[in-house]
Amino acid sequence: MQFFIDTADVEEIRTANSWGILSGVTTNPSLVAKSGRDFTEVVKEIVNIVDGSVSAEVLSDDVEGMLEEAEPLAAISDQITIKVPMTAEGLKAVHRLSKMGIKTNVTLIFSSNQALMAARAGATYVSPFVGRLDDIGHDGVKLIDEVAHIFDVHNIDTKIIAASIRHPIHVAQAAESGAHIATLPFAVMKKILSHPLTDQGIQRFKEDWEKANKG
Ligand code: E4P
Repeated sequence: MQFFIDTADVEEIRTANSWGILSGVTTNPSLVAKSGRDFTEVVKEIVNIVDGSVSAEVLSDDVEGMLEEAEPLAAISDQITIKVPMTAEGLKAVHRLSKMGIKTNVTLIFSSNQALMAARAGATYVSPFVGRLDDIGHDGVKLIDEVAHIFDVHNIDTKIIAASIRHPIHVAQAAESGAHIATLPFAVMKKILSHPLTDQGIQRFKEDWEKANKG
């Protein structure tokens, strides 16, 4: 499973990228709004930081509007993946964009049937939202499991991005369930990097070394 970062904060992206573990970035309108910056400028900056896919989301409700938004974004770089909501108009947009050779990420996936439809429309990625399903008492990780199984049985190439990841357990469970990618908020990325026993171990090795080499 690869790691994407789920943020529009370029400093967070730079830091995660410096660790050598980053394969891409996902943004959404809420994250861009939080950054307080111009959308196109942020996207341009992000593609200069990372090598992989950068998801940029369209806001229109109809296919023509989605395509109008998508084309200038896709022209920024071939790293750009157009993020499209899971609606009938979204599927039409995915189909048209895939014919144009533009990568797509179908977002707000909450059922395996939605994931299958998105894949059949030509989606490069589908994004099942794990945390938001957990929030309403469903099992978000189980959805990843189901989608991975369906894609496997039917030889579907569309990649699964486990999205709406809220804590470290989600990450390991998404990997076990067969997600190709998990997109993580920076806070979760920091949490999975460290472990108190690692820190204690480093401290103990240093103390033992110093004791043995005293005098
Ligand atoms: C994914 O692409 C979305 O941007 C994101 O994971 C949503 O996460 P949230 O449910 O924590 O807002």
